[in-house]
Amino acid sequence: MSAPPRSDDALDQRWQAWAEQRGPAAGLHMDNAAAGRSSAEVLAAVSDHAQLEARVGSYVAEELAAPVIGAGRAALASLMGVPTDGLAFVESATAALAVLLRCWPLRAGDTIAVAPSDWGPALEGFAARGLRISELAIVPDGQIDLDQLERRLTTAPPAVVHLTQVASHRSLVQPVAQAATLCRAAGVPLWVDAAQALGHVDTALGADAVYAPGRKWLAGPRGVGVLAVGEAWWRRLNLTVPAMMPAEWPPVRLLESHDAHVAGRVGLATAVRQYLGTGPAQVWQRLQQVGQETRKVLGGLPGWQVAGGGAPSAITGLRPVAGQDVPAVRRRLLDEHAIVTTAAVTARAPREMTETLLRVSPHVDCSAADLDRLYAALADG
Ligand SMILES: Cc1ncc(COP(=O)(O)O)c(C=O)c1O
Repeated sequence: MSAPPRSDDALDQRWQAWAEQRGPAAGLHMDNAAAGRSSAEVLAAVSDHAQLEARVGSYVAEELAAPVIGAGRAALASLMGVPTDGLAFVESATAALAVLLRCWPLRAGDTIAVAPSDWGPALEGFAARGLRISELAIVPDGQIDLDQLERRLTTAPPAVVHLTQVASHRSLVQPVAQAATLCRAAGVPLWVDAAQALGHVDTALGADAVYAPGRKWLAGPRGVGVLAVGEAWWRRLNLTVPAMMPAEWPPVRLLESHDAHVAGRVGLATAVRQYLGTGPAQVWQRLQQVGQETRKVLGGLPGWQVAGGGAPSAITGLRPVAGQDVPAVRRRLLDEHAIVTTAAVTARAPREMTETLLRVSPHVDCSAADLDRLYAALADG
């Protein structure tokens, strides 16, 4: 077995504290792109609210939790670049996109422009809605070509541009801020899939719609996600207003599910408060560094190749170059080494991926020793 490159850097106190908020993991959690590890405070908030529901009644408990949920709503809206009334709690990124496709003023046959790295299930949703999918030109690392986008927006503008800000399967971050400026100038709405971006990179970049689950990089509870819609669109959405709703109810709130995992919303509000306390800019910078260190260490691993060379995120895709069966490797890492990763199948990004990748996605608390442990486990077999 070849020795991993060693680094003795101690983990910064800030990231140690982040790990301590969560308590010990059963193994090595290298799978935050699937779901993060919630902190003890988040878990307690969820459980406390569920118990409050049983004690005082669910609707009374919801009224009592309104200030906490309201603060979470305001914080999430601001992280996603919309006014507070532009945020709807939904269940997941998939649920958010379904809502968006239902309410946005689109006609069957309209064109939606995407990057080849775009999230596969979203492409399926576009096709099911009757939209024509058109690919945007890219530069070699997979980011969209902004010059070409600018030309495209004037010569053949699509009805919508959709960008998956942080790719799910490899290190790749799309230039959303620049794309938003170009789309705005051309009057073309920009939708952003921020499933892997919220809590990972800046997501307040001027898009018209942004959606994400809370469970990944924010490490909120499962089953709670968010959809943010820019104010210019609020009155243009196709909405039905139930007679039971107050007349002044914000239009985007009509997109929220009628019944909901309110305890989960309380948990997500708690996760966001903790995230703001840690400092989003520091988290983004640290996650970029963690991704770079991961690729530096695993770049030298025999039998594997780091996929792509896109703008840095904390997500690394490893391509098997020695005939390995990736789902079997993922299973072996879990069963024999207690290391959690994902076997990322091509359906995640069918216009870009050609093979299953092993996805590694550590969080801010990833130490050099953790990367050494992963390297040794992968090299051992
Ligand atoms: C880029 C991307 N978009 C969308 C989703 C779907 O998210 P959800 O499971 O919350 O529906 C994922 C999930 O991994 C993702 O990585």
